[in-house]
Amino acid sequence: MKYRQIDNQLFRKNRKKFMSQMKAKSIAVFNSNDVYPIGADSTMPFEQHRDIFYLSGADQEETILVLFPDAMDSKHREILFVRETNAHIAVWEGEKLTKEKATEVSGIATIYWLSDFEKVFFDLMTEAETVYFNTNEHYRQAVETQTREDRFIIKCKQDFPAHQWAKSNPILQEIRGVKEPEETSLLQEACAITEKGFRRILGFVKPGVWEYEIEAEYLHEFIRNRSKGFAYTPIVASGASANVLHYIENNLQCKDGDLLLMDVGAEYANYSSDMTRTIPVNGKFTARQKAVYEAVLRVKDLATALLVPGTIWAEYHKEVGKLMTAELLGLGLLDKADVQNEDENWPAYKKYFMHGTSHHLGLNTHDYGALKTPMKANMVFTVEPGIYIPGENLGIRLEDDVVIQEHGAPINLMKNIPIEIEEIESLMNA
Ligand code: GLY
Ligand code: MN
Ligand code: MN
Repeated sequence: MKYRQIDNQLFRKNRKKFMSQMKAKSIAVFNSNDVYPIGADSTMPFEQHRDIFYLSGADQEETILVLFPDAMDSKHREILFVRETNAHIAVWEGEKLTKEKATEVSGIATIYWLSDFEKVFFDLMTEAETVYFNTNEHYRQAVETQTREDRFIIKCKQDFPAHQWAKSNPILQEIRGVKEPEETSLLQEACAITEKGFRRILGFVKPGVWEYEIEAEYLHEFIRNRSKGFAYTPIVASGASANVLHYIENNLQCKDGDLLLMDVGAEYANYSSDMTRTIPVNGKFTARQKAVYEAVLRVKDLATALLVPGTIWAEYHKEVGKLMTAELLGLGLLDKADVQNEDENWPAYKKYFMHGTSHHLGLNTHDYGALKTPMKANMVFTVEPGIYIPGENLGIRLEDDVVIQEHGAPINLMKNIPIEIEEIESLMNA
């Protein structure tokens, strides 16, 4: 791993929170992700499943975590199964978790080799009545691939048809949504790396550079600061491309007079940052670009102030819609009649701002977290309004990551990343 080892106190706390919500005589199982194939002997770089990482810190394939708070043998209340390592694997694949290292990383005393899983699990199941399965119930999930977790669930149901089943996901959605201080620090680190990338490109962008050259500058800065790289596929969109919300080709040349929208964030220790900045390719905003930019910035700042304990996510979005409507009227993009005649299911402002304003952020970029119940302190959200005007070759989005506080305004983890027009222009022209 490139990141500094995380104090296992975090994973101990996370397991404690999960186990406190389990039913009596129940067992919960969490699997690693597979290593996904490309073809021939090529594979994608490994990405750990965020749930097993959250509960154990184990960042390795072929790992299983078992939690069984009522196990008769106290050493079986928490067990981590890891792939057996040996001298041959060490030579060909490098260092893997030894039993000692697995304990140091996770804080779990009982580590077994994966080859012992079936035997140990059968024994534990004779004591258990309910099994918690870790299904994916994220509100935006659209996964067609069968995961290691899915295969485990199918096999477990076949092997133990008389047990009861329960869902881990609602517990994880609740506890992962509220961040521990250690997690906020890791998110802050990811944001600090993103800041370094952004400052680097402010001195690099000029008419004639290619979008992929800018992408490369970010990646260079991220990796040299202990990040694996981008937390999500980066969007580096100049001119009209900024109006394609998921533009990821990043293959055009930046032109004098155009704006450049960059939705780019570094990961650190599997935690995501999620930033969007929009800058003028030539270092100077036009009056019209400035007016639209200032409108987006005002909506971002006013929306941020609404992220306080008690806010309901859906109502927040309605309030942000009102803020945006006022700005669009001010810019002359909407008129009063547009607003009076609007369809309440697709309000007039959506013509220029068609995506959501905020999502939970954490181990996943669109993270787990409660959305239907009131917001709580220490939830982390993005704030990302935008105005997109294809007719003017113009798309502006600004995105920061903020932590809800018990009292007062949220803390902005991106407060050091330049966003004011004067600062951006002066850094680009330094
Ligand atoms: N970068 C993904 C998002 O802003 O939601
Ligand atoms: Mn983003
Ligand atoms: Mn986002």
